[in-house]
Amino acid sequence: MRRNLLVLTLLIVVLSMLAACGGGGTDADDAAAAPTVAPTTAPAATVGDAAKGKELFATTCAACHGPNGEGVTGLGKPFTTSDFVPSQSDEQLLAFIKTGRPTSDPANTTGVDMPPKGGNPALTDAQLVDIIAYIRSLHQ
Ligand code: HEC
Repeated sequence: MRRNLLVLTLLIVVLSMLAACGGGGTDADDAAAAPTVAPTTAPAATVGDAAKGKELFATTCAACHGPNGEGVTGLGKPFTTSDFVPSQSDEQLLAFIKTGRPTSDPANTTGVDMPPKGGNPALTDAQLVDIIAYIRSLHQ
């Protein structure tokens, strides 16, 4: 009887040690998983501040591209379905927005001007990068 109790106690000790190891293993997995997640979100998330970009977008870009970037027929193109936005780096999009895409540009698809900086020359590069983070987040 005493022997059984000893075996049982040992069993409990071993099991609880295994459980502790299991827990430790999960923590290690979590820690290992974190850095692998970061790079995939980094290009869009770390460079610009999408929350700030949303406000700037509302005042400068929404008139042509729609309040939620869904596009306005006969004006700006939608960002929800744009293949162009995800195909460009932040640097390329920054250059694009600063230049715009006039109707004289062979790449223009609508026959409507995309004005430089959306017609708001006061926007800084940093603000445009915030706007880029926001319009990237609209892609569905
Ligand atoms: C006066 C209207 C107008 C405003 C304001 C405007 N856009 Fe545009 N935008 C356009 C038009 C029109 C096009 C499509 C040009 C074409 O035919 O290729 C366009 C295209 C774009 C594209 C390329 C989309 C694609 O899929 O090819 C981006 C990116 C863009 N605009 C960003 C912005 C940003 C950011 C702002 C605010 C800073 C802004 N636009 C403000 C009219 C506007």
